[in-house]
Amino acid sequence: MKKSSFLILAAGKGTRMKSELPKVLHSVGGLSMLERVCNTAQELKPSSLSIIIGHQGERVKNKISPKFKNVTFYTQPVLDGSGGAVRRALSWIKRQKGVIFVACGDAPLITAQTFKLLLQTHHSQKNAVTVLTTIHPQPFGYGRIVRSYDNSVEKIVEHLDASHEERQISEINSGTYCFEAAWLAKALPKLSNKNAKKEFYLTDTLEIIRKWGGRVGAAICPNYMEVMGVNSRVELAMIEKALYLRKVETLMVDGVSIIDPNSTYIDDDVQIGSDTIIYPQTFISGKTKIGSHCQIGPFVQIKDCLVENNVIFKASFADSALIRGGAKVGPFSHIRPKSDVGVNAHIGNFSELKNTQLGEGSKVNHLSYLGDTKCGKNVNIGAGTITCNYDGFKKFPTLIQDHAFIGSNVNLIAPIQVGAHSVVGAGSSISEDVPSWSLAVERSRAIVKKDWAKARLKKGKKS
Ligand code: UD1
Ligand code: CA
Repeated sequence: MKKSSFLILAAGKGTRMKSELPKVLHSVGGLSMLERVCNTAQELKPSSLSIIIGHQGERVKNKISPKFKNVTFYTQPVLDGSGGAVRRALSWIKRQKGVIFVACGDAPLITAQTFKLLLQTHHSQKNAVTVLTTIHPQPFGYGRIVRSYDNSVEKIVEHLDASHEERQISEINSGTYCFEAAWLAKALPKLSNKNAKKEFYLTDTLEIIRKWGGRVGAAICPNYMEVMGVNSRVELAMIEKALYLRKVETLMVDGVSIIDPNSTYIDDDVQIGSDTIIYPQTFISGKTKIGSHCQIGPFVQIKDCLVENNVIFKASFADSALIRGGAKVGPFSHIRPKSDVGVNAHIGNFSELKNTQLGEGSKVNHLSYLGDTKCGKNVNIGAGTITCNYDGFKKFPTLIQDHAFIGSNVNLIAPIQVGAHSVVGAGSSISEDVPSWSLAVERSRAIVKKDWAKARLKKGKKS
């Protein structure tokens, strides 16, 4: 394959977003639009990648350059149109061999496959430039593709400059192109801004190239949604929805059951094993990896977790945690960072873990908080147990060894250790270490007065 390079336009202001954040930095599905376009560009292994920045350019550059080291940035100080933007990179364009893809930083749904289709069409038709088009049910506002008798592209007219007849055309310009570098370099200086917007239109290069004898072609993207660019937050939400649906479809093809794709939000990088079922209202994000035969949801949020096979996870939150095979989580659990829920362990009803390890088969089933705690195997944590890990200044650890039984409503005042097989009586506040096989209780004896209530009743009636 011939060499290709990539130019992304990201200088636009995005006025209609009504945002303090530059438009291309708005995220969809957990990643900014511009990062998505850069990722797609990288998939095509371009020999060089450049981005045109302008509005809040430094901010855009600071966000992108740490992740994409080989990107060159060109600044467009005055936003004088898409042609004006590309012209800022003229020196770079002149150095490129072969083709240059030009893409928009606000159209993140276009896939690498579609860019390949564009390139194939470009080569097979021996074009000087090929534009990616689509048939749009609502072409209003877009540049229209005017075709010639031989089906090549004669020109692109912008909506504002189009005649009544031209506005009837439903084939529109996506804003994505494949140029022979030399033709682009030659045409750019010829652009004029004598048009409705008084801007230098990149689209005019096509007509110029055609006049000079270069062939201008088009590749039609069959899915018009894919080429959609974002101008407002309404479109941002539509794009995000399309991305989530694309992800769940891939997962379903790979053997994951998704009960309701419309209420399932799974980020791109998430991996899920086959025969896992995802119930509605589930959000799985970041670098999460989920095994096979799990039941996840409904009402779940999992971020950056490793979830092994056969886990049941209902109506709960987890962040940066490890949930081991066969564990049961929820309903209503909160698993905070650096926690490790052991094989076949249970955590349920209003229980929270923070930086806590639960050993194999251990249970924290009701209303408990364990922080900075290491629990061995088969430990039972009674309802309402709290590890008091914080004295207002520092955090302290708790160690609960294998087979220990912590009664209900116990406060374990850290630092503290409870030895293996020990029992802590319900309602105790314990601040000393408990050796193994011991009982620790801290509560005053109950007073039981026989028939006391009868006397009370009698006294009450008299008064
Ligand atoms: C452009 C196309 C139109 C096409 C539409 C697809 C032109 C003249 N028209 O129109 O045919 O149907 O995209 O969405 O290109 N940009 C800059 N600097 C500028 C102006 C724009 O970098 O001075 C960038 C924007 O950030 C954006 C892209 O160029 O990524 C397109 O600009 P936009 O203003 O959205 O163009 P449209 O009027 O939508
Ligand atoms: Ca007590």
